[in-house]
Amino acid sequence: MTAFVRNQWYVAAYGREIGRELFARTILGESLVFYRTTSGRVVALADRCVHRRYPLSESRLEGDTIVCGYHGFTYDQGGTCVFVPGQARIPRTARVASYPVVEQDSFVWVWIGDHDRADPSSIPRAPWLDDPAYTSVSGMEPLAARYQLLVDNLMDLSHETYLHGGYIGTPEVANTPITTEVDEDRGIVYVSRHMADAECPLFYAESTGIEGRITRWQDIEYHPPCLYLLHSRIAPVGVLPNADGSDPDGFHVEIVYAITPETENSTHDFWAVARDFALGDQEVSDFLAENNRTVVMQDVVALNLLEKVIATEPEGYQELSINIDTGGLAARRILTRMAEAGAAPARPSEAVPS
Ligand code: FES
Ligand SMILES: [Fe+2]
Repeated sequence: MTAFVRNQWYVAAYGREIGRELFARTILGESLVFYRTTSGRVVALADRCVHRRYPLSESRLEGDTIVCGYHGFTYDQGGTCVFVPGQARIPRTARVASYPVVEQDSFVWVWIGDHDRADPSSIPRAPWLDDPAYTSVSGMEPLAARYQLLVDNLMDLSHETYLHGGYIGTPEVANTPITTEVDEDRGIVYVSRHMADAECPLFYAESTGIEGRITRWQDIEYHPPCLYLLHSRIAPVGVLPNADGSDPDGFHVEIVYAITPETENSTHDFWAVARDFALGDQEVSDFLAENNRTVVMQDVVALNLLEKVIATEPEGYQELSINIDTGGLAARRILTRMAEAGAAPARPSEAVPS
């Protein structure tokens, strides 16, 4: 199994999830506590008091510091202890790890690996999620399965026909061949499936108002490990973009997933759907949010089952791959390469009682 890719940015939360309450979330096996300072900046610290391991997320904020709920050790936003009870001298090792954080495109991104390598300009973008030209719905579902299973799932959309029939799946998805391209230098996998004349699933019929058959394009862009984009274009059959690239008669939906490992066998499955039509229409938003969540939960149920199967299978079991798996296999190859390249980075300095 591919190890965690530590030296990369991961989505830890939506910006809206983090405020002046302490917020706990485990990322890549590390328990973190998040909060917003009085000036609005998001802070991420190790969620374990250096004294007797009490979770800082179960403690309280005092201004921009956390006061441990057990004996009162107090930490500033850099994780340095600024107060211990009963003595004036604060031990030099009294600090918890802090983690680089960037807020962008409605997400809070965190860097778990070697801090020297945390370059905010390398965070992949999902600009639609806070662009006023789009209306978005989003959520996060906990997945009791390893993140690699979600990558496989998203890279091969032929499963829509079977697992999501009646929602987003129609026969044409599984029947239309894909094209796969890999940008080896940038480590991005592209998978496209263009359906010229397809049944319109309820998801798009209801939201766009198109009646009859559609031209349906699915263009996947996976930025391993965390960000997956599905550029979805829907139009009445035969309606194509103009030669200059403008596309006034097409409907565009940007489907964004952030795939963040929680532990080796569980994943935070962030999903968002941004559209460039029916802007601000609450009924359409409610419909898309409910339908997309249903679809995500169909995947969650299936992937949770797969995780259980993997846990009980004999060593050395071999899968069988076919054409539809080309994108997923390319993704696995890049993830393996990234994990090897970032092997055994230094952990953030952290004093742990022995
Ligand atoms: S465990 Fe936090 S102060 Fe004792
Ligand atoms: Fe799915």
